[in-house]
Amino acid sequence: MKKSIFQKLFITYGITIILGFGILALVLMKLFSQYFIDSKKDLLLEYGQKITQDIAIGLYSGRLDRETLIEDLKILDKFLDARIWIIDRNGMIFGVSGTNEEQYLGQQVDNTRLGILYRGRNIIETGNFGGKFREPVLTVGYPIFYNDEFEGAVLVHASMPGIQKSFRDIYNITILAIIFSGLFAYVILYFQIKRISMPLMEISKAAKVISGGEFQKRLEIKTGDEIEELAKSFNDMAESLEKIEENRRNFIANISHDLRSPMTSIKGFVGGIMDGTIPPEMQGHYLNIVMDECQRLIKMTNELLELNNIQQGKVEVNKTNFELNEMLRRKLINFENEITKKNIDVMLKLHDDSTLVNADKAMMERIITNLLDNAVKFTEENGYISLRTREEKSKVVVEIINTCENVDEIEIKNMWERFHKGDQTRGIYKSGFGLGLSIVKEMIILQGEKIWADKLDGAIRFSFTIGKAK
Ligand SMILES: Nc1ncnc2c1ncn2[C@@H]1O[C@H](COP(=O)(O)OP(=O)(O)O)[C@@H](O)[C@H]1O
Ligand SMILES: [Mg+2]
Repeated sequence: MKKSIFQKLFITYGITIILGFGILALVLMKLFSQYFIDSKKDLLLEYGQKITQDIAIGLYSGRLDRETLIEDLKILDKFLDARIWIIDRNGMIFGVSGTNEEQYLGQQVDNTRLGILYRGRNIIETGNFGGKFREPVLTVGYPIFYNDEFEGAVLVHASMPGIQKSFRDIYNITILAIIFSGLFAYVILYFQIKRISMPLMEISKAAKVISGGEFQKRLEIKTGDEIEELAKSFNDMAESLEKIEENRRNFIANISHDLRSPMTSIKGFVGGIMDGTIPPEMQGHYLNIVMDECQRLIKMTNELLELNNIQQGKVEVNKTNFELNEMLRRKLINFENEITKKNIDVMLKLHDDSTLVNADKAMMERIITNLLDNAVKFTEENGYISLRTREEKSKVVVEIINTCENVDEIEIKNMWERFHKGDQTRGIYKSGFGLGLSIVKEMIILQGEKIWADKLDGAIRFSFTIGKAK
């Protein structure tokens, strides 16, 4: 079965928390017991030495009798919570601190331990002292020397469970604190992971909706982190998809529309000629219109193919050096007829006598033709067109300005789209197919240049860059 991200994070982090806190508890426990055993050991050693010096030596020098010694040991036993034995030089136990201990009287301490004491060394050990105790004890042994003679030893045993009992409270509190902080960490973890996994689930759900074709689905995730970024990218993607889908629909609608009108008129005129509705003397005139329509259909197909080729990367850029001023003048002359017909005022302002540029010449011709075609087409009668060049660093900027009243920012943004026509009602004769600017833009981008449009007072300005000749 597939595990959700929530389960995965919860399990891995959970294990980490348990392990971390478990190890912490173990280490603390070890440190605590070590600390308590060590301090007990120090205490026992300290008192072992005192007993040896003060009491036992008194005994061997005869200043202290055995009964008094036992009484003193009993008091110390209570104080230290430890059993105290006195052994003689042969290792025989002859004095104990408690009545329960009397069973040990007369017993023998083994030779290994006696040997250590005999050599003047202390005994420090934990265990059941050679099988003498049922529970583990901490034993400290201290040899007694009198007049440089080994006289015996003092052995102090503290029960290990007894020592442990003394720090169990602290130990319990620590463990409790660890368990609580562990639980707390787990609760925080739970919410934190939920915070991560919930939006992911939401994104996944939205993705399913979109893949089902509902492109208008958007996400509202405000986590202020990478997930919000992801959601934002997701929304951008959805928007692009929606746009592509819309473009696709429009594309088909536009093509159908632009095909239908010329086809209908061709059909009408050819039909009229065939059935005799159009008299023979008029046939030449209508055949000319049919011819025009056919030409327009071919033009549209060519433009579509051209655009498609560019977008599929099939068109190669072939840059050469050429004279731009000459090209601009030549292109302008091509539109002379329409310009005079509409009584358009033309201004040509070139920044230099000769402007050598480096670009794909054929594409440049196409770009300038399309832009001038628009300028002439969309300028009202008695308007003006201004063609200018200027230098900017390593670029030459060409500006084409023409009078134009009814263009707003939205139109300026949208007009680069395929099939976009500013005024749908103007009909295809006047407006073309709305492909001109798309082709221009693609060709400019292909050459690594820029093109933009802005609105001036009662006019529109198209500007594009060309690299200077190298
Ligand atoms: N020089 C211009 N002046 C005013 N409007 C323009 C100009 N150039 C383009 N436009 C607007 O942008 C639209 C798209 O232009 P274009 O892609 O060349 O298509 P078409 O020329 O076939 O209409 C035009 O329909 C028009 O509304
Ligand atoms: Mg055009």
